[in-house]
Amino acid sequence: MLKLIVKTKNKKYPIVIGENILKKINSFFKSYVPNCKKIALIVDNNVPNKITNNIRKSLKNYQILLIKIHVSEKKKSFKTIESLLNKILKNNFNRNDCVIALGGGILGDISGLTASLLKRGIRFINIPTTLLAQVDSSIGGKTAVNLNLGKNLIGTFHQPDLVIADILTLKSLPKREMICGYAEILKHALILDKKFFNWLNKKGKEIINLSNKNSIQKAIFLSCKIKSKIVQKDEKEKNLRQILNFGHTFGHAFEATKKFSKKLNHGESVLLGIICAIKFSLKKKEELDLILDHYSNLNLPYKIKNFFKKKDIPRLIKFMKSDKKNYDKNIKLVLINQIGKVAKPKSYSEIKIKKFLLAMLD
Ligand SMILES: NC(=O)c1ccc[n+]([C@@H]2O[C@H](COP(=O)([O-])OP(=O)(O)OC[C@H]3O[C@@H](n4cnc5c(N)ncnc54)[C@H](O)[C@@H]3O)[C@@H](O)[C@H]2O)c1
Repeated sequence: MLKLIVKTKNKKYPIVIGENILKKINSFFKSYVPNCKKIALIVDNNVPNKITNNIRKSLKNYQILLIKIHVSEKKKSFKTIESLLNKILKNNFNRNDCVIALGGGILGDISGLTASLLKRGIRFINIPTTLLAQVDSSIGGKTAVNLNLGKNLIGTFHQPDLVIADILTLKSLPKREMICGYAEILKHALILDKKFFNWLNKKGKEIINLSNKNSIQKAIFLSCKIKSKIVQKDEKEKNLRQILNFGHTFGHAFEATKKFSKKLNHGESVLLGIICAIKFSLKKKEELDLILDHYSNLNLPYKIKNFFKKKDIPRLIKFMKSDKKNYDKNIKLVLINQIGKVAKPKSYSEIKIKKFLLAMLD
């Protein structure tokens, strides 16, 4: 079992990573969630019942309120939060009690927000069950719901008390979802760790195919280490945390332009976004080729032209301009100077980005 401690201004909590570690959940609870009597176990409907039942059995000494949710971006709404708050409050939870999220990033964002609002904040345990949630969304305490005006516009920062990433939960995950998580692993390596990127060049296939437990555990550990290092320095995303947005300014515009259709999911949009960001930033052809070869070896989507046409550019620009990083009419981008060396985020004019997209779609 691998363990990392995240230290933010007001909280210190562990991330534990391993295979079949959920069987130890009762002892984790005794150590990290003392005096808890009631648990709201909020579960993504697609998580196999066996996993949920084993957790319930291990935590049989606690009073468990089980709530299952069929997740979708539409479920990331105030309506869902209100319903969760009502169900939990009817059972008289107090601040020593806790909410457990058992699911992917959507379930984690909703459950975290619920925990942060209940009595102005009760304990929160995250058990991420998608690769994306294990390497990214379960760390850092961001919670969110969507509005018609945009994704993740409403939320809080509420750090968990414990994160348990058990790679056994990934067994039932579709390959497309594994690729989604891989996009964030690759992002972490490209911004801060060339050695990690070189290692991914050798181990990427094993990670995506979940065929070597040591490789997958190491990839999750190194990703969590990079993300937690950044979160510790800039919990509320005032400056440094923005670098985690590498590939996402283009990526978010790609998914929004496609109206969040299943034809191009979040991870695929980020992978295309990373391609744009490296082509925009890297001057050295050898480095660019290294990344393009990585995409080609792993069969990752890289051809923007396969998804967008020149007529989509005005919409892409509109979404890029509404990005949370912007404070004026320009578009702020996170770029890299070389593999493993992120640059300070910088703003570019709409005209410059338009020209770049035109060239990409030529
Ligand atoms: N809070 C943050 O810091 C942060 C960071 C990145 C992304 N996010 C959010 O995370 C969400 C994306 O997360 P995601 O990629 O995990 O998507 P997701 O939560 O939609 O899960 C992907 C799919 O996998 C299913 N699933 C989950 N666990 C499974 C399992 N073990 N076996 C089989 N199927 C399973 C889900 O039901 C869903 O259909 C977005 O809403 C995004 O905004 C949040």
